[in-house]
Amino acid sequence: MKNTFDVASAHRAGKPISMVTCYDYCSARIVAASAIDCILVGDSLAMVMHGHETTIHADLDMMCLHVAAVRRGAPDHLLIADMPFLAHRKGKTAAMDAVERLMKAGAQAVKIEGAGDGVETIRHIVASGVPVMGHLGLTPQSIHQIGGYRVQGRGQEKARELVAEARRLQEAGCFALVLEVVPSDVAAEVTRELEIPTIGIGAGHHTSGQVLVLQDMLGMQPEFKPQFLRTYLDGFDLIRDALDRYDHDVKSGAFPSSEESYS
Ligand code: KIV
Repeated sequence: MKNTFDVASAHRAGKPISMVTCYDYCSARIVAASAIDCILVGDSLAMVMHGHETTIHADLDMMCLHVAAVRRGAPDHLLIADMPFLAHRKGKTAAMDAVERLMKAGAQAVKIEGAGDGVETIRHIVASGVPVMGHLGLTPQSIHQIGGYRVQGRGQEKARELVAEARRLQEAGCFALVLEVVPSDVAAEVTRELEIPTIGIGAGHHTSGQVLVLQDMLGMQPEFKPQFLRTYLDGFDLIRDALDRYDHDVKSGAFPSSEESYS
């Protein structure tokens, strides 16, 4: 997909939407060569690429650096960038400055966690010509308020609140909505209620699409095994084995061969 119009047409046609996170040039080239529909430069990069404990450590400089690298690797793919922690909570001007930097770095849309009184800022960003993807359920930037990485929207009251917030985000102009770690029946209800597509992560199979963190689905972090994750490669083991073979070849003198040397 090249833009948010493609997301809307896929949704209208009932076609599921696939999204992965991506943070660097080299991986972006691979994603761009695949059938994946769109790319999220998520603030999860603070954890996955920089080893921080939470996404709170992603700041605008970090986000823009990664957005620009991914854009160079995937020049024609729809690229959505996360607004980092508090970037949209410091007044309209600061929010718009952050949006401007992300867009100039190469994003075509921004993703913003939560609803609440942030909806007014989202409305303003959309009215300024910038597509916004909403994000409800487990919102990792609020981890210290939520109290842990656990299922959100459980129970009738919480589910009702989630549906109401989803409606408000749609009404504010969001073009799509990420639902993270919510019961699949709640995700199904939100999806039924909305005209815009829902993109789930840990939200069951009734959403309009799915998103996974690239390194998680490639098995690069084997110790991270949430119930919702499916891994498609044993990336950690495969790469470590390749490194061990290289190490062995260096130490045994098998590398480089004469063909791999200049005469
Ligand atoms: O930052 C991120 O990777 C995300 C996805 C998990 C949706 O927000």
